Parts: sequence; C-alpha cells; structure tokens
Amino acid sequence: MTTHAQELERYRAQTKKSYAMYGQAEKILPLGVSSNFRTFEPYPIYIQRAEGSKMWDVDGREYTDFSMCFGALMVGHSHPTMVKALGKAAGEGTLYGMPHDREVRAAELIGERFGLEQVRFTNSGSESTMHALRVARAYTGRDKVLKFEGAYHGGHDTVLVSVKPPGPKAGHVRHPKPLPVGHGIPDGSVANTLVAQWNDAQGVREILERNENQVAAIILEPVMMNVGVIAPRDGFIQELRSLCDEFGCLLVFDEVKTGAKLAWGGAQEWFKVKADIVCLAKAIGGGLPLGAFGARRAIMDEIAQFRSFHAGTFASNPLATTACLTALADVLTPDVFPRATALGEALAEGHNKIIKKHGLNACAVNVGVNGTVFWCKTPPTNYREWLRQDTDAFWRYWHMNLNRGVIPQAQCYDEQWTVSALHTQKDVDHMLQVFDEIAREMK
Ligand SMILES: Cc1ncc(COP(=O)(O)O)c(C=O)c1O
Repeated sequence: MTTHAQELERYRAQTKKSYAMYGQAEKILPLGVSSNFRTFEPYPIYIQRAEGSKMWDVDGREYTDFSMCFGALMVGHSHPTMVKALGKAAGEGTLYGMPHDREVRAAELIGERFGLEQVRFTNSGSESTMHALRVARAYTGRDKVLKFEGAYHGGHDTVLVSVKPPGPKAGHVRHPKPLPVGHGIPDGSVANTLVAQWNDAQGVREILERNENQVAAIILEPVMMNVGVIAPRDGFIQELRSLCDEFGCLLVFDEVKTGAKLAWGGAQEWFKVKADIVCLAKAIGGGLPLGAFGARRAIMDEIAQFRSFHAGTFASNPLATTACLTALADVLTPDVFPRATALGEALAEGHNKIIKKHGLNACAVNVGVNGTVFWCKTPPTNYREWLRQDTDAFWRYWHMNLNRGVIPQAQCYDEQWTVSALHTQKDVDHMLQVFDEIAREMK
C-alpha cells in the first residue's frame, strides 16, 4: 500500500518542471495562478498543450483529461472543426466595436436552442449571472435574490454568499444564515441575498413568505455542480417554478455548467421546466471566453428601454461568437449528448463496481455528461450532507490519479468529471483501470 505521503513524493518527482514554474509564477500571480480554483497542494501542474481528450504538462507527462476546464470544453480540446473555423476567423479581425453578422446568427442559435426570445452576450458566467439578476431586479422592482446554500454563481457580490459556509456557522439546515465569501463584500449587499437549502421547497416557501413582494428572483444551478453533482429530487424544480409564479419572482436558471451539456437544450429540456431567464457560458463558447443571458422580450426590454444597463467591450467578439456558432451548429449536435451521457453513466457504474469490490466508503453518481465520486457512503442531497465527506480521501485519490496520468475531474472535491464530444470508450476504460488500482491501494 502506498501512503498519501509517498504519492506526494512521487508527484514531486514527476513534476519538477511544474514546480520550477510554480516558483516563477508565484512571484507575479497570487498563488501562482490566474483563478483561485486552479490551485491545489502542493502546487499545480502547469500545462503545455492539449488535444482531444488529452493534456500534456511542462514535464511532458500525458493526462487523460476529464476536467475539460471545469466542464467548459464540451467540444473537447482543439476539436478539428473548431480549429479550422477559428483559424479562418482570426484572420478576419478579432474585435470590431461594431455589431456584426456572426453575433446575430449565434444569438439566433442560442435563442432556438434554449427557447429564449432575446439574448445578450457577455464574456463569462459571472457576468451572465450578474446581468441576469440586475435585469430581474429591474423587471420586478425588487431587490432581494434567493440562492441555495453551496451554489456558486460567479464572482460578484450578490452571489458570493453562502458558497461554502463552514457548517457550524451556517445556521439551521432549514434556515441557512447568509454568509459572505471572504472579505470585501458589503453587508448591504449580503442583506439582499437570501439563502435556502437545496431540495427543500417548504423552506423556500417560508423565505418567500417572510420576504413577500421583496424577492426579485430565485437563482439556481438546475443540477448543483459546485458541490460535486447533486440533482434535484423529483418535482423540486417544478415546485420552484410554481413558487416563483405564486410569489411574482423570476426563475433564473444558471446554466453555466448545464447549458449545451446536460442535454442539447440544457436543463430546461432535461427537466421540462421553463425558466424566466437563462444564464449561459462555458460550453457555448466552444473553448473561448463567451457567456450569454436571455429571456422573453418583455424581460429583455429592461435593456432595450435603457432601464437596466448592459455593455461590454469584448462582448460578442467575432472570435468567440465564431466559436459559439461552430460549437452549437457543427460540434454539439443532438447525437453527441446521448453518446457522451452513456459514457458518463459507464463511468459511474464502473466506479461503483470498483468501490464495492474494494469496500471503499464512497459512491459515484452521474447526471448527463457530468459525474463524480463522493467520499461518503450515499450521495448527498444537499450542501449540509455534502459536508460529511472524507476530503482527505479525495486528495489522496486526486494525487494518485495525477501520478497515473488521469485528471479524474476538475480539481477539488466540489467538482465533477465532464465527458466531452471527443471522449471515447478508451478514455473511460483508462480512467476505470486507474481507479481500480487506486481503490485497491486505498481500501
Ligand atoms: C454554475 C456557475 N455559474 C457561474 C460561474 C461563473 O462562471 P465564470 O467562471 O465563467 O465567471 C461558474 C463557474 O464555474 C459556475 O459553475
């Protein structure tokens, strides 16, 4: 049996160039990275290139990649169709500061796919949720927003509340206490964010009753994917839809992780529930930074009538919108989703068999193209249950995977694997073969 300490030694021995680059990076980039989520102990691997389902680090090591940039790369790395379209687009100007033909077509494709009458482009998921909530506040004339404990919706003040609150400080499970993420978020902002427990419709009702005529929107990830993968229980999303209708607030789907991934038409198609506003990013950009939000015309009129502000120098830039057009029209076609979902299910099934064989205190789940191993006996159904995991076991599993050439999911136990358009059965077999070896060591 190899201990975690031995695995860390092996990691250091195999990633010497990454370590040197980390030393260089840390001097100029806080934590040596450009996004907090990319760091991990003892230091991250630094990547040199990627193609298909593989990535290579600066030490020349090959990895089968199931992170796919936190799920953004549903098209896979350097998909040939994407490379061709982007190569051509790069020679035709990368910024115009004027509207152009590709953004109109890309917006139409998004509108058709997600049932949205009007769409505006942004550069990221954070911008999409920020603008969506501002429009919701403008449309309803209300200030408060309800989110779920454990949900991440990006890096702006309204939603940087109760993302990973420490259990003991987070209040009663039924009535979570809104807690800001770190310093720098004004109390006045936190006061306008209400926090409910996932899968608890009665708790949501009570909050809406206590804040009658004050709540502009309920924002949710239709499948919670910043706490692994926690699906809604049957009927929960439908109950939220009814509560929004009853209390006059808007249902905002944060489809940054589910859009063009959970199904061709995202979570609205999967759960057969219509949202009032849909926020998109990640997969729709085909690997380039692009986000969007959309709704029916009456809501988007807040922008058209200059009542709610939206603008952005890089919004709908020709390169990103070309990537979006190509991804949606030519790569992420309807046939991709059942195929990738079947591979995701094979991954979960394979993991569960291995977990059983070796008697690990873990379980695997998969929803659509995303899944994860939870380091607890049964899948959690909300944030508080998710807190009960053995996080040390995750980090051991994580380093063991990296040492054996697999990135099993995005870094950290709150993430998940993504099966992209370019993953094959061979990748699934590789991950399972490595997991079998790991599970034998960990039991
Ligand atoms: C559900 C969800 N919403 C919003 C965001 C923010 O997106 P971005 O990182 O593009 O700003 C993320 C990022 O992971 C996310 O998972």
